[in-house]
Amino acid sequence: MLYTPIKFRNVELKNRWVMSPMCMYSSENGLANDFHFVHYGSRSQGGTGLLIVEATGVEPRGRITNKCMGIWNDTQAENLKKIVDFVHQNSESKIGIQLAHAGRKGSTWDNVQISLEEGWETVAPSPVPYKEGERIPHALTIDEIKETVQNFKDAAKRAVKAGFDVVEIHAAHGYLVHQFLSPLSNIRTDEYGGSFENRIRFLLEIVDAVNEELNENVALFVRISGTEYAENGWDVKDSVELAKVLKNHAVDLIDVSSGGNIHGAKISVFEGYQVPFAQEVKNGADVKTGAVGLITHTEQAEEILKEEQADLIFVAREILRNPYLVVQGSFEMKKDCFFPHQYLRAKISS
Ligand code: FNR
Repeated sequence: MLYTPIKFRNVELKNRWVMSPMCMYSSENGLANDFHFVHYGSRSQGGTGLLIVEATGVEPRGRITNKCMGIWNDTQAENLKKIVDFVHQNSESKIGIQLAHAGRKGSTWDNVQISLEEGWETVAPSPVPYKEGERIPHALTIDEIKETVQNFKDAAKRAVKAGFDVVEIHAAHGYLVHQFLSPLSNIRTDEYGGSFENRIRFLLEIVDAVNEELNENVALFVRISGTEYAENGWDVKDSVELAKVLKNHAVDLIDVSSGGNIHGAKISVFEGYQVPFAQEVKNGADVKTGAVGLITHTEQAEEILKEEQADLIFVAREILRNPYLVVQGSFEMKKDCFFPHQYLRAKISS
């Protein structure tokens, strides 16, 4: 299974391993640089089916920190294109990008809010800060919501031009889209708040706008938090309902993570702890899902696929420790996997 290809639109992934998006906090003015080139390039040499570039801000205030990646201008997209071209020319990996807006969780460093002078005024669906002691975010007006949707659309257009194979919308971890989804952070009384239908409206508008820029050669994923571990908050039943709707809006895969919107929420973390959410969404909505969270070895990943709990395996920290995780797993399982021709002698250890 792990080394069986899978197709989303015309995008064929050679295996089920995905490098999960991970902020590197290493950009100046949102630009990718040599570090990112080596960082992503080396995972492509490691045989990863799909790499997803870290949360990338669709506007400057959509970043988490001043050092986050951005794609609100053409220069940023041109730098990213160098990475995309390298990956396409030197590996069999596909490459995606996570489009993001931090909302009320922006303007920070090391998870601590920075001053207005160093940072910026954050935005959110409602004037509810993430943590006590943080500045009250500016509640987006309807016009500003429309502008934000447009920013996602423009970012997607640049991503397509740069040659990305997958666009993932970040709707998880308590960032702006998640803030709209949750009744605990969204207390609006207009058409973007209140009922489930109203709270998912912002995401659906983004999905539709982004899809207008995509084509059969660029697939669309959405990352959600399956639950936010809070009473009366967003939960897995909501996630299933959302996934049903997203499927009808031509979303190809739901990448199911959890948490991030409620400061101090109690989360029990163990091996594969988020996999049951991916399974519930997969079965409940009949969609393809990605599983993520403390998946660290080949056998475990294979089991998740075999049990039909998910279709893709996202790995984050383990692939930081070992960029060759995927090719190494293929040796263990005696499966074929891309290995750079320059390294072929290493396929035989004797
Ligand atoms: C992350 N994570 C993350 N998630 C996301 O959706 N967008 C992002 O940009 C980031 N940034 C990020 C940075 C770093 C350094 C880490 C370690 C994690 C979360 C990540 O994608 C993944 O969901 C979790 O780390 C759980 O998977 P692992 O690490 O247990 O495989």
